[in-house]
Amino acid sequence: MIGSANLSAWFPEWGSTHAPDVDVPFFDIYVVTVTILILTVGLAVVFTRTFTRKEGDPEQMPAVGTNKILLGLGVVGAIALAGFAFQTGLSGFVGQRVAPYGAFEVSVTAREGVWDFTYPDGHVADTLRVAVGQPVHLTMTSQDISQNMSIPDLRVNQTIMPGHTTEAWFETIRPGTFPIRTGAFSAATYDSMTSVVVSLPAEEFAAWQAAVGDIFAGRTMAEVGELLYNQQGCKACHSLDGSNLVGPSLKNVYGFEFLTTTGETVLADDAYIKESILTPNASVIAEYQPVMTPYAGILGDQEIQAITEFLKTISDRGHTGGQEDK
Ligand code: HEC
Repeated sequence: MIGSANLSAWFPEWGSTHAPDVDVPFFDIYVVTVTILILTVGLAVVFTRTFTRKEGDPEQMPAVGTNKILLGLGVVGAIALAGFAFQTGLSGFVGQRVAPYGAFEVSVTAREGVWDFTYPDGHVADTLRVAVGQPVHLTMTSQDISQNMSIPDLRVNQTIMPGHTTEAWFETIRPGTFPIRTGAFSAATYDSMTSVVVSLPAEEFAAWQAAVGDIFAGRTMAEVGELLYNQQGCKACHSLDGSNLVGPSLKNVYGFEFLTTTGETVLADDAYIKESILTPNASVIAEYQPVMTPYAGILGDQEIQAITEFLKTISDRGHTGGQEDK
């Protein structure tokens, strides 16, 4: 730990577990190098003075033999120094390459000058929020140009390339806001393309995650239903405007009656809509193929309730609960 003196003021305060692994070897090698420099220059000065021919010295320089022991010590010393530089940086270097098992996975996409950070729950943001003390594993790619992502406080620096995924990981050791800097390796430079890592105490991070992960927060049931219609792939097969795609339009479904392939008539009430979503093939609407994805295990009761509320808003019989409007 030669390097932990005042020199540490050169670099930003340690923000991640990587910081000591980067700074300590840097300063150790720095101090050793400067020591050797002083020694070499000092010896050169001393030797110049000692061996300068003085007034009255004999014309001939004294024959100086090779001191094999000193020479040997010099070679061994040089090898030892190289070994020290290698050894002091190795564990940090290896440690930075391999993310710990079970790290929090965030995928990073650099796109047209902005960052997309995608969390395990599908939430996408342009700033990277993390919890203090939790290892975060970044899997990164670029949709346009090659560039560099660097987070100096966390001692993270990694190239991002189109058509390739690169990785980085870090674990913050204190709360704070750490700038992310970019350098683009191309003619187009994205000056504006900066973002931040926001490191939050674990409870605050959990609260934030719950807030963004909870689609019901701040939305009415019908709004959640519309969101699910867009997010869950319903819109690929069902229109909202009355036109029939792979499946019947969801306009004027709630409260209306339909003929099934077995010749029965079903009323699209709450129970039937729930059944249609969870086990679509239980009763198949006439003239359609039984191709709908079953959503059992994907959508919960509350979500199906939300979709039902949404279907009410786009049905002429939504407010009558299945009765014909009188
Ligand atoms: C792969 C295409 C496909 C997807 C995706 C799909 N559906 Fe369907 N859906 C169908 C087809 C085809 C039918 C008609 C045959 C049947 O009843 O199974 C249908 C029937 C329905 C019905 C009954 C309609 C009626 O007229 O009685 C409802 C309600 C419904 N889907 C809701 C949804 C919701 C909500 C989602 C998304 C969570 C969804 N569907 C996703 C293809 C799809």
